[in-house]
Amino acid sequence: MPSAHRPRFLRDLQPEADVRAELAQGLLQPQAAVSPRFLYDALGAALFQAITELPEYYPTRTEAALMQRHAEAIATAVRAALPAGFALVDLGAGDGAKAERLFATLRPAHYVALDIAEDPLRRALTALQQRHPALPVSGVIADFSQHLSLPSGVHDGPSLVFYPGSSIGNFAPGEALRLLQQARELSAGGALLIGADLVKPRAVLEAAYDDALGVTAAFNLNLLRHVNRLLGSDFEVRDWQHVALFDEAQSRIEMHLQARRGLSVRWPGARRRFAAGERVHTENSYKWTTAAFEALLRRAGWREVQAWQDERGWFGVFFARA
Ligand code: AVJ
Repeated sequence: MPSAHRPRFLRDLQPEADVRAELAQGLLQPQAAVSPRFLYDALGAALFQAITELPEYYPTRTEAALMQRHAEAIATAVRAALPAGFALVDLGAGDGAKAERLFATLRPAHYVALDIAEDPLRRALTALQQRHPALPVSGVIADFSQHLSLPSGVHDGPSLVFYPGSSIGNFAPGEALRLLQQARELSAGGALLIGADLVKPRAVLEAAYDDALGVTAAFNLNLLRHVNRLLGSDFEVRDWQHVALFDEAQSRIEMHLQARRGLSVRWPGARRRFAAGERVHTENSYKWTTAAFEALLRRAGWREVQAWQDERGWFGVFFARA
């Protein structure tokens, strides 16, 4: 019988005072903004999982179908690029389900899951470990939006960096380039498997980010409750409205929260007045073309880029070697 492992957890988070300072600074800008990472408290992580089940939200199921359809080609590419003993490093692992589907074909020697939401990650990895008792599993609670690296001692040697779901879309092209360069460093001569959402008609995009049930609206509005807990602010969720718009010039979905009336928000040491209709910018989700995303990967130093997309051309899966 193989030895049974327990998941190992490490926290690599900013001090709370820095988080409060960043939130206050963002809220006091003329165009108020809050980083999309504050969408993911425990409830936000659960609401995001619900979003992935919505008929309008095509990315998750389109990507899953691509990964399944091209599983053989992906496995061949991984075997050519990585030695036995490689780690599968999952950026923004969520419930870990996407990575777990790769275990059987890719046979990683170590699963390293990074996520910003601590309790959901702990629960997910504890359950996953029971299904894979022989696999070493590490959970890293971290925000890699400013800088991506593994805390020392987590894994030495090459890894397959796995960044599914098109979360790279949260980054403007210059920031995405930096993150992909850091991913290449982290891979230690390994490889990258990444999903990117592609440009498509506005109506499809806007429905995906403003669904009929209002789950995405709840996901966006829940950020205010998370901010209230972190900052001590007094946002009233009922005073705000979810807005999602495709900006074609910048090729990005923008999510905002719009004040339903003139109001003031207070927190220890400051307050911000919002006019009726004024917005807090909470997320960008950039949409790429396959050609532009391949060029971005190459600029970040990745080579031998392979790309797969669905027949509608809605989503792309990319593999590349360090
Ligand atoms: C997790 C960043 C990939 O941009 O589609 C879903 C987040 N926001 N609905 C995305 C999100 C609104 C999602 N990512």
